[in-house]
Amino acid sequence: MRTPTRGTASRTGKCKKGSKETEVTEFVLQGPDRMVSVREVFGIDTDLKVPAFAEREDHVPDIDDAYRFNPDVTLAILAGFSRDRRVMVQGLHGTGKSTHIEQVAARLNWPCVRVNLDGHISRLDLVGKDAIVLRDGLQVTEFQEGIVPWALQRPVALIFDEYDAGRPDVMFVIQRILERDGKFTLLDQNRVIHPHPWFRLFATSNTVGLGNLSGMYHGTQVLNHAQIDRWNIVATLNYLPHDEEMAIVLARVPAKNDDRGRKLISAMVTVAELTRKGFAAGDLSTLMSPRTVITWAENCEIFRDPALAFRLSFLNKCDEAERPIVAEYYQRCFGTELDESWMRAPGAQ
Ligand SMILES: Nc1ncnc2c1ncn2[C@@H]1O[C@H](COP(=O)(O)OP(=O)(O)OP(=O)(O)O)[C@@H](O)[C@H]1O
Ligand SMILES: [Mg+2]
Repeated sequence: MRTPTRGTASRTGKCKKGSKETEVTEFVLQGPDRMVSVREVFGIDTDLKVPAFAEREDHVPDIDDAYRFNPDVTLAILAGFSRDRRVMVQGLHGTGKSTHIEQVAARLNWPCVRVNLDGHISRLDLVGKDAIVLRDGLQVTEFQEGIVPWALQRPVALIFDEYDAGRPDVMFVIQRILERDGKFTLLDQNRVIHPHPWFRLFATSNTVGLGNLSGMYHGTQVLNHAQIDRWNIVATLNYLPHDEEMAIVLARVPAKNDDRGRKLISAMVTVAELTRKGFAAGDLSTLMSPRTVITWAENCEIFRDPALAFRLSFLNKCDEAERPIVAEYYQRCFGTELDESWMRAPGAQ
């Protein structure tokens, strides 16, 4: 028996009432209808053209004009969209992985659904479950599709965020659709779903599935390598060169884009780099991500005091025993001692 679609169709509010075939007709466009130049849209020096949709639909993410694309990662994601590759973006926290995929989709007008694979997502959430609904005043049980069959039948990019946090039993649901022609079987429904030709699958993760080796990503799982093997492209987005990171922060906080502001941001990025080196050397157990640098710059605007903003945005997140080291990094870049520094500790001359 075919699955009633009312439950899922109401998610978009675009179904034709009473129609059983709403599931594939609710999207205005059933596929991309034009090719756009990567050079023009993403500013990357290549003659590539990629398929895109002419019309924006509710699921298309909003364009963030301040977003700066990383060419290598952008090309990997574009290969995912245009050549139906399964792309995973891996990297340290706050480097822009989740937003990168969304912003590529936003520029292509590609409908996009992001699912956080946190520890509470269950098989039923992904596959679907029987639910009691009110139909013509009567309570009836009907099957409501989960997000995987729903997305699979539409021209949608499904993003599994925090892929390495998903529970192992849940991850096996995804295994089959990772294969390019991966059909999906709804066991209770005795039905096989064929993927829509413009369905796309992406994931982001902090680890490469080998577990929480750095100690920073508590809650992540060791992933089955047969599954990692099924991702066609694994792009890495880690910390960027100094100038590029500065450009990102300035794009986010344009008020700092003058001589004084640029000097300040440059010093802030240097502090962040020192924390990353300190982390790599084992001196620190935490590090400053680009997201924190952005927050620090925003907090500078609020408090008008880089030292106070630094304390509130990063220093207070550090282990108390490590704060003097972080204060020293700050002192090296800003020439000011913080209260947390060794120099100000009782007993220091
Ligand atoms: N290249 C960039 N241009 C503009 N803003 C950026 C860029 N990279 C990151 N950001 C900003 O930094 C913040 C963090 O980005 P995002 O949430 O995508 O990181 P993430 O890599 O997914 O982090 P996590 O691993 O913690 O999930 C966002 O507010 C985003 O807008
Ligand atoms: Mg993310």
